Amino acid sequence: MRKGLVAANWKMNGLRQSNATLIDVLKAGLKSSPNVEVLVCPPAVYLEQVGAELDGSLVMLGAQNLHPQQSGAFTGELSAEMLKDIGCSHVIIGHSERRQLFGEENSFIAEKFTAAQRSGLIPILCVGETQEQREAVETEAVVLDQLEAVLVHAGIEAFNNAVIAYEPVWAIGTGLTATPEQAQVVHALIRGKLAEANTAVAESTRILYGGSVKGSNAAELFAKPDIDGGLVGGASLVAEGFLSICNSYSE
Ligand code: PGA
Repeated sequence: MRKGLVAANWKMNGLRQSNATLIDVLKAGLKSSPNVEVLVCPPAVYLEQVGAELDGSLVMLGAQNLHPQQSGAFTGELSAEMLKDIGCSHVIIGHSERRQLFGEENSFIAEKFTAAQRSGLIPILCVGETQEQREAVETEAVVLDQLEAVLVHAGIEAFNNAVIAYEPVWAIGTGLTATPEQAQVVHALIRGKLAEANTAVAESTRILYGGSVKGSNAAELFAKPDIDGGLVGGASLVAEGFLSICNSYSE
């Protein structure tokens, strides 16, 4: 039985004061459940602050990005070692905003994936198709391609310490959510791809859904057999909304 994971991707949002308030309300409202883990990924500049505020709670700390190199002349970048040093357990890799706005390609994302694991971080590998690709019936090809790039580079065993997030680009920040049935089809496809290489790894790998997850649709999505939680953007910035998503596991 896979344990659920609900991860908050704050993206480029928050300031010291609002971070503190959000974390306070989260800590107070989160019902402890053996069925789900909770992760918060603030902007890098606030990792230390949020990490300190989360200290002693069960909520884990994650980063939104990293650079594959360990150190060196990469102005403005952060390494996996730094993120680990500051207390992160997870890092988001290959988010569609990084792919689209910062030109990150599959091969670079695969390097980031192994860099994260090199220092003991758990990568959350995001995959997903755009609206145009879905309309052109390319969803399967695009998602498998994104997954394959990492599988070839890192190997199937690497997925013992990784999370995958299926995030249809057309559902991110748009209010359009994939139906639980639409999402389940792609989640099963991803798990099937892993199973071709190793069924035990496929059974244990958590596959999150992301794209306009909110309190009102989370339970229905998480009830699907291959959906093991959510990667939540907009709704994670409002404590009550995020809490209702997390707590949908304990109800
Ligand atoms: P959203 O973002 O929940 O605001 O759609 C999800 C994500 O980009 O991870």
